[in-house]
Order: sequence, then structure tokens, then C-alpha cells
Amino acid sequence: MIKRIGVLTSGGDSPGMNAAIRAVVRSSLYHDVEVYGIYDGYKGLLEDRMIKMERASVSDISAKGGTILGSARLEEFKELETQKEAYRILRKRGIDALVVIGGDGTYKGAAKLSELGINCVGIPSTIDNDIASSDFNIGFDTALNTIIENIDKLRDTSSSHHRCSVIEVMGNRCADLALYSGISCGAEVIITPHEVYDQTKILEQISFFEKAKKKRHAIVIVTEKITNVHDLAKEISTYSGFSGRATILGHIQRGGAPSAADRILATKLGDKAVEVLIAGEKSHCVGVVDNKVISMPISEALLLRKNNYETLVALHQRIV
Ligand code: F6P
Repeated sequence: MIKRIGVLTSGGDSPGMNAAIRAVVRSSLYHDVEVYGIYDGYKGLLEDRMIKMERASVSDISAKGGTILGSARLEEFKELETQKEAYRILRKRGIDALVVIGGDGTYKGAAKLSELGINCVGIPSTIDNDIASSDFNIGFDTALNTIIENIDKLRDTSSSHHRCSVIEVMGNRCADLALYSGISCGAEVIITPHEVYDQTKILEQISFFEKAKKKRHAIVIVTEKITNVHDLAKEISTYSGFSGRATILGHIQRGGAPSAADRILATKLGDKAVEVLIAGEKSHCVGVVDNKVISMPISEALLLRKNNYETLVALHQRIV
């Protein structure tokens, strides 16, 4: 019988984390389970910083970006001694189970704590959308909308000045933010980590859009960590009739009020996470697959890879 649940947010924050916290708290209380909010992810857990949460602790937070609990990245959590210390603190606090809200690093920490005897469940929350066990991760939709809003603005000025805008988006090693925003904004070129970076080919593509297709402007979207977008913009100015300009959207993509889709996703997954813990599962994670809320072992989830790449690229190529 679970009596007391802990909840934390960890890794890069994402819009919708607050709605997930709210759902975990409200759902726990609905099931007569106490809930403790742990500050600043695994870091705050190791420092024993937590607070008992009541219904009112999570009032009016669904619309807020960021996370009211704070978040952190903690490399040391990979070490067994650190995990054992976290286990000891949770036991001392009488916490039998933990909900972790974050990305794959967060999931790995939860799997380790589960091995030590604290049942954990993970909620996928990262703008990168790289947790493949859920079609959508909390925060992706909001980040995508932020990107689109900004690219639409860049297109206006690119068009006026016959320029090529090169826009770097986040995503880490996941192509989703680049592909979805590229398709939504009608980008001419989308550069992702799935293809070997070939600058000559990219420059040829841009020239093709300028000369053969007579485009007045062009949009190139690049996933972060692939190339220096300022250098690429300079090359575009040299090798095409366009003047190249680069914009790195950066952390703006992680902020802002969550979209309706993210709030609903977060609410469904927060509620499901509590249900999974009450059912006695350990080392599980929740997600939405084909519009159905599911749960599965974290070990299986971490082996899954996104399989939407070819379909989205083919779609882009047909309509560009
Ligand atoms: O994982 C989310 C993410 O925003 C990635 O897209 C990005 O690479 C990384 O976090 C940035 O991390 P930080 O905020 O620690 O610089």
C-alpha cells in the first residue's frame, strides 16, 4: 500500500511540467495518498529539500511555464553511492514511491532508484520529444508553437530583403522540432542529425530554390549541435544570390505558457503516473501512443527510437 509519494522535475524544464505536478498532487490526494514536492530534481532530493503538498499548493499553476519545483541536471546521480543516499533520504521521509518528470536522464535515475527499492514512474517531459515511448512529450507542442511564431516573423523580413534565414532550433539529437517546424513553416531546407551534414549539397539546394524556383527568400532550419549557423549563413551569402542571416532561437523555446495540448497531455500523464504507482508497478513510465494513455517499463522505453523520420521527410519533400 502506497501512503506517501514524492514528485520532482528534473533535467531541462519544459512548458507543461506544472500541469503535470498539479495532476500528480490532485490525483494522489484523490486516492488518499500524501504527496511531497521535491525541489530542484535529484539535487534537491539529495539535499533533503521537499515540502508536503496540498490541493492549494498547485492552484493556478497549469498556465505557468517552467516548474514551480525547480529543476537541475546532476551528473553525480549516475553514481551508486549518490543513488543510495537518495534512497536513504526517501526512506527517512517515509516516501514509498516517486514520480519523476523529465527526459531520458531523469528516467535513468528513476530506474536506478527502483532497483534500490523505491518504486518510480517517469513522465516524459522535454521539448526535444526524444522519449520514444510516448508519441508526444510534455512541452514539445508549446516549443513547436514558439518556433513557428518566430519563424513566421523571420519570414516577413527575409522576404522583404531577398534573404535566406538560417534558424537553429533545439532538439539535442532528435529531429522532431526541426521537422515539425520546417513542415509547418514551409522551410525550404531542414537539416537534422539523421543525415550526414553535407554543406555543398545544402548550398546547391538553396541555389536551386533561388534560381530554378525563383524564390524571393528561403528558410533553412537546423537542429542544434550540427554546424555553426553563422558560418553557414556566410557561405549562403557567398554561394547564392541570397544574403544569409542566422538566428539561434535558444532557450526562448523552453519558456512560455504551455499550449492547451501540453496541459491536457500533462494532466492525463500525471493522473496515470499515480494510478501506475498505486497498482504497485516499479520502474515504469507513462505516455500516449496512438491517442491512448499507456505505461511500460523504463528499460524498454529507453531502447525505443523514434520511427517517424522517413515519413516526415517524404512529406516535406513532396510539398516543399
Ligand atoms: O533537453 C532539452 C534541451 O533544451 C535541449 O534541447 C538542449 O540541447 C539542452 O536542453 C540545453 O540544456 P541547458 O539548458 O542545460 O543548456
